[in-house]
Amino acid sequence: MNKPKRYTITAALPYTNGPIHIGHLAGVYVPADIYARFLRATGNDVAYICGSDEHGVAIPMRAKKEGVSPQDIIDKYHGIIKNSFADFGISFDNYSRTSAEIHHKTASDFFQKLYKDGEFIEEVTEQLYDEEANQYLADRFVIGTCPKCGNEESYGDQCEKCGTSHNATDLINPKSAITGNIPTLKETKHWFLPLDKHEDFLREWILEGHKNDWKPNVLGQVKSWIDDGLRPRAVTRDLDWGIPVPVEGADGKVLYVWFDAPIGYISSTKEWAEREGKNWEDYWKKDDTKLVHFIGKDNIVFHCIIFPAMLKAHGNYILPENVPANEFLNLEGNKLSTSKNWAVWLHEYLEEFPGQQDVLRYTLTANAPENKDNDFTWKDFQAKNNNELVAVFGNFINRVVVLTNKYYNGIVPTPADFSDIDQDVLDQLKEFPNSIAKSIERYRFREASQEMMNLARLGNKYLADEEPWKVIKEDEERVKTIMYVALQIAAGLAVVSEPFLPFTSSKLKNILNLNTAELNHKWVDISEKNVLLPANHQVNKGELLFAKIEDKTIQIQLDKLEATKKANEAANKEVEPQKETIQFDDFTKIDIRVGTIIEAEKVAKTKKLLKLTVDVGIDTRTIVSGIAESFKPEDIIGQQVTVLCNLAPRKLRGVESQGMILMTDTPEGKLAFMEPKGKVINGSQVC
Ligand code: MF3
Ligand code: ZN
Repeated sequence: MNKPKRYTITAALPYTNGPIHIGHLAGVYVPADIYARFLRATGNDVAYICGSDEHGVAIPMRAKKEGVSPQDIIDKYHGIIKNSFADFGISFDNYSRTSAEIHHKTASDFFQKLYKDGEFIEEVTEQLYDEEANQYLADRFVIGTCPKCGNEESYGDQCEKCGTSHNATDLINPKSAITGNIPTLKETKHWFLPLDKHEDFLREWILEGHKNDWKPNVLGQVKSWIDDGLRPRAVTRDLDWGIPVPVEGADGKVLYVWFDAPIGYISSTKEWAEREGKNWEDYWKKDDTKLVHFIGKDNIVFHCIIFPAMLKAHGNYILPENVPANEFLNLEGNKLSTSKNWAVWLHEYLEEFPGQQDVLRYTLTANAPENKDNDFTWKDFQAKNNNELVAVFGNFINRVVVLTNKYYNGIVPTPADFSDIDQDVLDQLKEFPNSIAKSIERYRFREASQEMMNLARLGNKYLADEEPWKVIKEDEERVKTIMYVALQIAAGLAVVSEPFLPFTSSKLKNILNLNTAELNHKWVDISEKNVLLPANHQVNKGELLFAKIEDKTIQIQLDKLEATKKANEAANKEVEPQKETIQFDDFTKIDIRVGTIIEAEKVAKTKKLLKLTVDVGIDTRTIVSGIAESFKPEDIIGQQVTVLCNLAPRKLRGVESQGMILMTDTPEGKLAFMEPKGKVINGSQVC
């Protein structure tokens, strides 16, 4: 397209069934934010749109699990997610939610328009049904084998392994996720969007029209679906959580979440336009608007096939110019998972690394899963911080600001003639906005972030080569020129770092005093103006931009993940099968009582054994117990325990043990005492 007049940038609406983690940030929100900030900095009209996706089946499921209402769940996570985005400087122009009235209305109207225009097939078909739960099974309510890739845990509407979207009845060996039952088939009426009808258009528009500008991973997925043949897809569901189907004879039915959610982009734009006194239709219906959807790879089919088919069927709407979907980010070698708690949660990160949002933004960008899945490791996070942000960016700025304050009380010196090297460096500075822009415009944010860092490298190298701290001893005039040149680079860096490191950029602008009307430079000024910081301009004292992250800080994070891993292993551990049946008489032979440990010491020359003196009510006796690796003797004095008292005594390492302490394992794999809840009298029987 020709140069667009305005941009509508959407970021996938997150489900409000949990907080957000680094995978969300890396895959969608940070790249979209860099893009939006860059476009604003280059003087474009931008609507950066998002909101919460609150109608997924996962929401009532989570509510059931937590014993609260779906409304409680969405309110809680909408709040947490919205705050996390704000905390990380994700600069949405609007963050809405699909439970908002304006969205219900927009989505209902959209459905009705397609309905009236005859764009749906209305059909009674047999759908999967769980007799015990009294419920039709679609989407996440049913699990079975993916007909395409053989994954045995595919959901009813989408296989998370291969990304294919299918109908629930396509699953092989379906099972109810509610009861585990094998579903029966039961007739019900639904409305289907005939994707087959749009196949030719989709093929032409994407596989021909965008074959050179869309990412290969996106084109590949689209081609594979279209080649498999598109079929009608139900856009309604028999459920009680969602937007009611707005036509007659649809009681108890709601819109499929993937029908209503993308319309959320439109509703959120409307909400924003109303507030800002703009016309939302400019952003969705004008050909000179560029629409770009930022998503993760599991959303490709919905944004490249289903939503465009909906927009096309509706008429009047523009279609996305690009859908730069990212692959997935893993964490320390394993797939990020909300249910397994395998994640770095944003709200937790901020508690542990307060004020260090840019470090995470930078690490996630420099390592973004743009073309293939990528791994986030804490070691790499530390290295990016220490070796790049601290050693390159921070170090350069620190030297410039400290020296300017030291030599000139913070006043930008007047340069003499520029040497060839000075001139070359100033010329290079002018090129950076263009090269960074080129990468951003092609959705290559990793490359762009490296190019931004290269500007700091240029500055660092310049200072290292020119050594003003040495030259000052013999040639004060020359140092003025060096510092002047270095200050221009610092000012350029404050501007071009803004999309990537918004917090740092803002601090740097304060340090350099760039917040005046004349010095509030735009992106193009770096290339076009010869002077960014004029002589005699006063800069402020420095402040710390980045701090070194120590090994022990990283170790805390690694330990936390290790604990999660252990807890998951324990939770998944098969419990031992039941032992052989015994008679009541057998049980009554056993004498189990509560006692209190009154003395404890290690059994000499053993690793595992403690010699305990235990008051079991009947008497006070010696018991040898293999718990020395889990407990220190001094910590367990006074501990109440459960004791098998009438076990025949036996000698362990020369000490006679008169009973056995009963123990269990914790999820973390540690030993735990079986103690009564609240103290009881020693000798109380367990029966
Ligand atoms: N909630 C979906 C997910 O997290 C994304 C919805 S994107 C939209 O995968 F298009 F529906 F908005
Ligand atoms: Zn599959």
